[in-house]
Amino acid sequence: MQGSPCRSDALVAITPADYPQSPRGRGSHKMQGNVPVDIPFTLTFTGPEAIAMTIYDRYVLPYLIDIACGLPMVQAQRRQLVPQAQGRVLEIGMGTGRNLPFYDRTRITRLVGVDPAMQMHRLAQKRSREAGIEVELMGLSAEQLPTANASFDTVVCTYTLCSIPDAAQALREMRRVLVPGGKLLFCEHGRAPDEAVRRWQDRLQPLWGPLAGGCQLGRDIPALLEETGFASSIQSGYLAGPRPMTFHYWGQAQAA
Ligand SMILES: C[S@@+](CC[C@H](N)C(=O)[O-])C[C@H]1O[C@@H](n2cnc3c(N)ncnc32)[C@H](O)[C@@H]1O
Repeated sequence: MQGSPCRSDALVAITPADYPQSPRGRGSHKMQGNVPVDIPFTLTFTGPEAIAMTIYDRYVLPYLIDIACGLPMVQAQRRQLVPQAQGRVLEIGMGTGRNLPFYDRTRITRLVGVDPAMQMHRLAQKRSREAGIEVELMGLSAEQLPTANASFDTVVCTYTLCSIPDAAQALREMRRVLVPGGKLLFCEHGRAPDEAVRRWQDRLQPLWGPLAGGCQLGRDIPALLEETGFASSIQSGYLAGPRPMTFHYWGQAQAA
């Protein structure tokens, strides 16, 4: 473990290899003195702060994520995207099940959800009952799906690529499990086109990541899709809210 302190002695920089299971606090910034700018690093907490963060991650964060993921403009994105899912559907990072009310049950033959954060599953199961839609929910990470090649017609991924530690590997897995011609439906926030907003994304990242379940503000979604072999039709733009968090990319993608 590298021990370069960042802002507080309670915060210690470690590499992803040191702490590969935690999505929390990954970033990519340089340190100039104590100021983060742009090299790969990961923040974690030690001592009483570590206990506080565990309690926060387990008992507070699922509810905060659920509230953020239920904001009206976010729900509007789901409303236009999710009903397009059809056939055998895999949802990546199902979280608290915010997409469940938007599936068109008449078009779906099977719905599998994966999310390693088991503390989210209870809310997702409640939403599944309320929506009258059966979901096979599994505590799995998207980077390694124990699923046969070409076994899903649709993959749904909303507000999740920001939090997956290895988003490129997860996208390669999504491509692998899709049938030829199958669709990835996605809606993600990410790297803003304006330099001033991007600078804010970089400045905020060291604090935002640990508090927001490892969420990366500046992921380049179009570049990730392209480098992992997807051809996509992408729409983008700011939604209402603070600009570092609200530049969105959404649309569909298929194996190129
Ligand atoms: C901001 S929440 C979004 C939840 C949900 N997709 C939605 O649209 O409301 C991000 C989700 O990504 C999940 N996640 C983090 N790492 C993951 C991984 N390696 N594989 C799959 N999901 C992951 C988190 O547990 C969390 O539920």
